[in-house]
Amino acid sequence: MTTSADGQPIDLAIIGGTGVYALAELADVETIEQETRYGQPSGPVRVGTLAGRRVAFLARHGEGHGVPPHRINYRANLAALQQAGARRVLALNTVGGIGAGYPPGALGCPDQLIDYTWGRISTLCEEPGTEVLHVDFGEPYTAALRRELLEAARRAGVPVADGGCYGATQGPRLETKAEIARMRRDGCDLVGMTGMPEAGLARELGLEYACLAIVANWAAGAGPDPDEAITLDEVLANVASATGRVSRIVQALLAG
Ligand code: HPA
Repeated sequence: MTTSADGQPIDLAIIGGTGVYALAELADVETIEQETRYGQPSGPVRVGTLAGRRVAFLARHGEGHGVPPHRINYRANLAALQQAGARRVLALNTVGGIGAGYPPGALGCPDQLIDYTWGRISTLCEEPGTEVLHVDFGEPYTAALRRELLEAARRAGVPVADGGCYGATQGPRLETKAEIARMRRDGCDLVGMTGMPEAGLARELGLEYACLAIVANWAAGAGPDPDEAITLDEVLANVASATGRVSRIVQALLAG
């Protein structure tokens, strides 16, 4: 079994998205600042104890939110967590809601995704001479981890929408109403900027990977007032109000 720097296995790695820059309940925290074969991750990996388990945490955009979605070194982030000893990753993604079942404040666990991003390094086989991988990606999230997550949410008494399609956009700007209307026609329920290439790279690295999406706003034109602008204050307030629920789910997941 792979182990963390102090020799103990990591039970779960958590990647925090916009508004989630630390895990408040993580105790006995050890900081790992490590270069990976893919370069520098967005920040340090914080390894500690939560609900009696070893947990690794990494802020996807950096702890001061200094890295925009298209500049994140997704390969280094996942490799750093794997190097620390993680085998399964819970991705927290802040998203906009497109489908009626995903209003601001809701939590969702998507089971599909569509990648609208471009120009990002999206594979481990980028460098000449690396073995070309064609991983199966029909089910982009690990079914067993999704089931465990949903079961944990049920035990914790926290509603989480089961399933749905995550559309990954380039950002950092938000979408136009026409882009969201097209995404709705494509079958997207949620929109975020970081779901890909992260999920695909996790599959290439052999990591179990599931997404817990925090709906922070209605996507452009998708809410009851289609002319309402999306503000960062609204996004951060909805993420903050979800943190307690997310934490209860994580603790239930770790308690198994
Ligand atoms: N679109 C894309 N990414 C997001 C959104 C959105 O509306 N809200 C939070 N992250």
